[in-house]
Amino acid sequence: MRLVVSGAAGFIGSHLCDRLLAEGHTVVALDNFLTGRSENLAHLAREPRLEFTKQDITERFSVRGPVDIVANLASPASPRDYLEYPIETLDVGSAGTRHMLELAKRKRARFLLTSTSECYGDPLVHPQVETYWGNVNPVGPRSCYDESKRFAEAITMAYHRTHGVRTNIARIFNTYGPRMQLNDGRVVPAFLDQALRGEPLTVFGDGSQTRSFCYVSDLVDGLYRLMLSDERYPVNLGNPREMTILEFAERICKLTNSSSSIVRMPLPEDDPRQRKPDISKAKNILGWEPKVSLEEGLKRTADYFQGRVLGSLAIT
Ligand SMILES: NC(=O)c1ccc[n+]([C@@H]2O[C@H](COP(=O)([O-])OP(=O)(O)OC[C@H]3O[C@@H](n4cnc5c(N)ncnc54)[C@H](O)[C@@H]3O)[C@@H](O)[C@H]2O)c1
Repeated sequence: MRLVVSGAAGFIGSHLCDRLLAEGHTVVALDNFLTGRSENLAHLAREPRLEFTKQDITERFSVRGPVDIVANLASPASPRDYLEYPIETLDVGSAGTRHMLELAKRKRARFLLTSTSECYGDPLVHPQVETYWGNVNPVGPRSCYDESKRFAEAITMAYHRTHGVRTNIARIFNTYGPRMQLNDGRVVPAFLDQALRGEPLTVFGDGSQTRSFCYVSDLVDGLYRLMLSDERYPVNLGNPREMTILEFAERICKLTNSSSSIVRMPLPEDDPRQRKPDISKAKNILGWEPKVSLEEGLKRTADYFQGRVLGSLAIT
């Protein structure tokens, strides 16, 4: 198959490209490097089945030749990024998603949207199931991301209903792994960075808020299965193993043999109290569930970050 992947130079996009190439497919990779890095695709520079184009998908564009699947991953995803680029985030979820849907329609291709658990906002239902409509503040600082993704889901369903495009929607929960950016403000790189430097780990609030973390190869496997499926409504993809942020900080210290202490900072506005996916739907229709344990996933991620942290310590 020939696939178009937007956001290909990002964390998840680059891993998806690896998986698609490993499955024998050809990839047209698009990215404007707003939050992604060419380094994430550097290992594929000589890969003849990957064709990279620097493209902002909020602008009109075309892709030559046949396309079987359009996968739309482009969007700032970490709170630090979307708070820095709120307008770009709204643009890519709206105009960008529409351009990718138009491409799928023109090429009679399937379409995959990577949506987010942020569609549930600060959820009043726990664990979060796909039929829950969410509790989102539409005018808070995080609304640029949450509402952009909710719009993206709505326009995806509209293209399916109006034009018959074969669409899939993944609601991704916190995912981690190599190629995340050390300084992107997400909890896994932030804790690993602080622990590896021997600095105190920053915990927001009292640390009793919960999260669940999915290793990137598991997530990509879920995306791959979903894009080949006939499910049109959103499907949660994430790891249901839930823990408090405080517990998580302690695990990171143990794993990295760090004696870092913990400092507390005020909870950011609209920070969700609880996050845990109900993945029954993905299990039933995709036969999917995460396989990589938190210990193993964190070890692989810590190995990746270790070189970077040590490198930056040597420079400063
Ligand atoms: N990582 C997670 O835990 C998580 C959770 C939920 C949803 N998601 C979704 O998965 C997707 C990928 O997230 P990620 O963690 O890899 O983020 P990322 O920031 O690493 O990757 C996003 C990529 O999109 C690119 N991009 C942004 N705007 C663009 C535009 N206008 N045109 C072309 N490219 C553009 C960026 O340069 C970047 O390479 C996003 O849609 C995100 O919302 C991720």
